[in-house]
Amino acid sequence: MVKGIILSGGFGTRLRPLTCTIPKSLIPVVNKPVIERQILLLKSTGVKEVVLAVSVMSDIVKNYFKDGEKLGIKISYTNEKHPMGTAGAIKLAESNLDNDNFFMLNGDVILNYNFKEMLNFHEKSNGIGTIASKIVEDPSPYGVLIVDSKTNQLYKFLEKNKYSPPNGKIIPMPVNAGVYILEPDIFSYIKPNKKTSIELDIFPKVVVDKKMYHFPITGIWKDIGKPYELLEGSILLMNDLLKNLKEKRKSLIDNSTDINPTTKIFPPCTIGENVVIRGMCNIGPNAIIGDNVYIDESTIIKESLIYNDTYISKNVDIQKAIISDNCLIEDHVQLRGKNENLVILASYVKVLRNIKLIAKEGEPINFCHHVEVNESLI
Ligand code: GTP
Repeated sequence: MVKGIILSGGFGTRLRPLTCTIPKSLIPVVNKPVIERQILLLKSTGVKEVVLAVSVMSDIVKNYFKDGEKLGIKISYTNEKHPMGTAGAIKLAESNLDNDNFFMLNGDVILNYNFKEMLNFHEKSNGIGTIASKIVEDPSPYGVLIVDSKTNQLYKFLEKNKYSPPNGKIIPMPVNAGVYILEPDIFSYIKPNKKTSIELDIFPKVVVDKKMYHFPITGIWKDIGKPYELLEGSILLMNDLLKNLKEKRKSLIDNSTDINPTTKIFPPCTIGENVVIRGMCNIGPNAIIGDNVYIDESTIIKESLIYNDTYISKNVDIQKAIISDNCLIEDHVQLRGKNENLVILASYVKVLRNIKLIAKEGEPINFCHHVEVNESLI
C-alpha cells in the first residue's frame, strides 16, 4: 500500500460563494488548504503517492500542488473533463491504482487520525472495502452504516438522510467518515465513462456481496460541506493542533505578526504571517486570520475566519463571519452572523463605511466576489 486518491473535483455548491473563486479542496482550514492537510496525513501513514481526482477548477489545484515536490510526496492528477461523480472520478485512475489496495478520501473532511490500524484491519478482513466510521449521537444527517458489531461487516449502507431510527428514537450509530481503503477489485463494479456515485451506486452492491467492512476511527472529524461546518471544523482543528503541540500554547500566532500591545487576544486564535494589528482591538476567541491581513484600531473579531490579503479598517465588528481573500472592509462596519447563518464575503468584496450586515435566523448573508456592498442588511 503506497498510494491514495483524494476526490478534489466537486462543485462545492453549498460552500458558495467561497467556492466561486477557490476550489473546495483548496479552502483553507487553519490557514492551510483542506486537502494539503489530508496529503500530509496520508504521508505520515506511509503513503508515497497521491492521485488528485480533479475536475472543477482543476488548473488552480494543479498549479498549487504541482508534482508534490514541496510536500515531499509524488502527486499526479486524473483527467476528468466534467464531474463524473465520486466513483466515475476514481475509475479514471484505475491504471494507476490497479496493483495494490489504496486509500480514497473525500477532499472535504477535516480529520486527524493515523490510518495504520485501519489498514491492518482491512488487510486481515478479506473485504473489497473498509469505510472509516465515526460514532455520532445523531446519525440522521449522515451516511449511516448498519453493521455486525462482532465482525465489523456491513449489512447495509444508507446514504445521507436515508436513515430513520427505529421507533423514532435517536441512538448513536457509526456513520461514513468519507475515508476508505479499497482493493483494486472495486473497479470491476464501476462502469467506465459514466457519472457514478460510490456511495449511492457502488457501495450498496459491495455490501450485498458481503465484502464491505467499517473501522471506527478516533480523533477529530468534520465534514466541511456547509459554511457553518467549515467554521466549526476550523475551530475544532485549531484546538486539536494546540492540544498536540509539544510546547503548550494558547494560540497559534506567527512570529512575523506585528500586534500593538494595547490589543487583547482572547485565546484560542490563529494569526498567520505578516499580519498587522493596530491598537485597542479585541481578537478572539476563535478568530482564525490568514497571512498579510491588516487590522486597524479598535476592531473586534470573534468566531470568524479571515483569509489572506484582506484589509480591515477601524472600529469594525466581525462575528460569525467568513471573509475570503483580498477583501476591503471600511471603518465602522458591522458583520454579524447568527447561529448557523453566517455572513460570508467572497474574494475581493469591498464593504463601504458604516454598513451593517446582520444575519437573521434562517437567513445567512452572502456576497459574491468583486461586489461592492453599499447598503446595509439588518
Ligand atoms: P456540494 O455541491 O456542496 O454538494 O459539494 P461537492 O460537489 O463537493 O459534493 P460532495 O460534498 O458530495 O463531495 C464529496 C467530495 O467528493 C468532495 O471532496 C468533492 O470535491 C468530491 N467530488 C464530488 N463530486 C465529484 C466529481 O464528480 N468528481 C470529482 N473528481 N470529485 C468529486
